[in-house]
Amino acid sequence: MQKISFALKKKGKKIGVVPTMGYLHEGHLSLIRIAQKYSDIVILTLFINPTQFAAHEDLNRYPQDIPGDLKKCKKAGVDYVFSPKISKMYPKNFETYVETTQISLPLCGGSRPGHFRGVTTIVSKLFLITQPTVAVLGKKDFQQLAVIKRMGADLNFPIRIIGAPIVRDKDGLALSSRNVYLTLEERKNAVGISSALFWIRNQIKSGETRIAILMSHLKNKLFSCGLRLDYAECLHSENLTPLTHYQKGKTLFAVACFVGKTRLIDNIVV
Ligand code: PAF
Repeated sequence: MQKISFALKKKGKKIGVVPTMGYLHEGHLSLIRIAQKYSDIVILTLFINPTQFAAHEDLNRYPQDIPGDLKKCKKAGVDYVFSPKISKMYPKNFETYVETTQISLPLCGGSRPGHFRGVTTIVSKLFLITQPTVAVLGKKDFQQLAVIKRMGADLNFPIRIIGAPIVRDKDGLALSSRNVYLTLEERKNAVGISSALFWIRNQIKSGETRIAILMSHLKNKLFSCGLRLDYAECLHSENLTPLTHYQKGKTLFAVACFVGKTRLIDNIVV
């Protein structure tokens, strides 16, 4: 893949990369369309990265459909799919990791220790292999995007990292490969996450900007939908530090909930 990328760059082609773990949905397809706007060649990476999963997490049952993904990529006009084996990415003597130290501490970093170390390590490797000019990642994983942007700036990756809007089902549930785990009952409850976040946005529009009050309402709404809270936090959207006062356009409400055994995340910036 790296040889192909170097050859493409030599020909003056701009490469856009869309890093994914596969089981593609409309959210991923929107990332592909953005990458196509900003580049000549789009590479989609498809790799379920073991180093970003803790031992008790869903690595072994993470949904997979490589033939289906390849069809979707072909239809979407993706030029290359890079889907390496685990042993190629992490050979036996592998010992180098990339880590951000601050921005990865709150939210998912708090409840999934080591997760972002795995993400930044694999994304660095994918960037070095695919040699992109632009990389497109979804804003549903808001902290992941912030962590990768931080890493890109700190390590001087010559790559423009673009955040793509969250794609939602008609009822508001953010698209995620993990939605496939949900039973019918859980799917009904899961919509409570986005409804609660949209409710917060409306409250702010109607003039309620006290963060403590908003957060207490947000948590109550999530509980009342039968969701088990992992976290619900209000942070500054640029540096992910806690916010005590509303800041127009920069106030992030981020939520992670368990719906049955499935952990889902969502967020809004108001
Ligand atoms: O968001 C994902 O699918 C993964 O975390 C990523 C960025 C592909 C790294 O494995």
